[in-house]
Amino acid sequence: MLEITVNDVVHQLDVEPDTPLLWVVRDELKLKGTKFGCGMAQCGACTVHLDGVPIRSCVTPISSVSGRSITTIEGIGEPSEAKQVAKLHVVQQAWIEEQVPQCGYCQSGQIMSAVALLEKNSQPTDADIDQAMAGNVCRCGMYGRIRTAIHSASAKLANEIILTPLDKQPSEVSANATTAEGS
Ligand code: FES
Ligand code: FES
Repeated sequence: MLEITVNDVVHQLDVEPDTPLLWVVRDELKLKGTKFGCGMAQCGACTVHLDGVPIRSCVTPISSVSGRSITTIEGIGEPSEAKQVAKLHVVQQAWIEEQVPQCGYCQSGQIMSAVALLEKNSQPTDADIDQAMAGNVCRCGMYGRIRTAIHSASAKLANEIILTPLDKQPSEVSANATTAEGS
């Protein structure tokens, strides 16, 4: 029996020790956001974080991460009480705003690498981005938008532009204020 922590949830798993982490995440835990591309650590589609560091889950035996903390694309936003993603990570927000995804297949891995980069270096240069993202292949060729989105996320972090929580949208805040004034 192996124990791993995925997105802050501890799992006891009865799997072969050489099972790739990718298949444990997808098939055992049913977290389908992490993708299979090449299976040879060449494309980055399967990127997850191991103790905060991006790794290729397709070539990572589950036995090598026993007792460690894994984060997948499902774990980078802020969950709601219903365990659904209620608020996207700032990188995910930037990805949408810059319309990065085309077919979308590579994007989970791209975002995981971008998140890891910004956690280590919140103000990356173009060269820093190119270096950090070099292992993530996009067959749709969206490298320019990926770079732009990372700079956008970096600027949001620098300016601490955090979206208003869903339970305090402006109309509701305004309505509450009106109610308070009228009471
Ligand atoms: S599927 Fe893991 S790097 Fe391509
Ligand atoms: S968006 Fe299609 S492979 Fe990257």
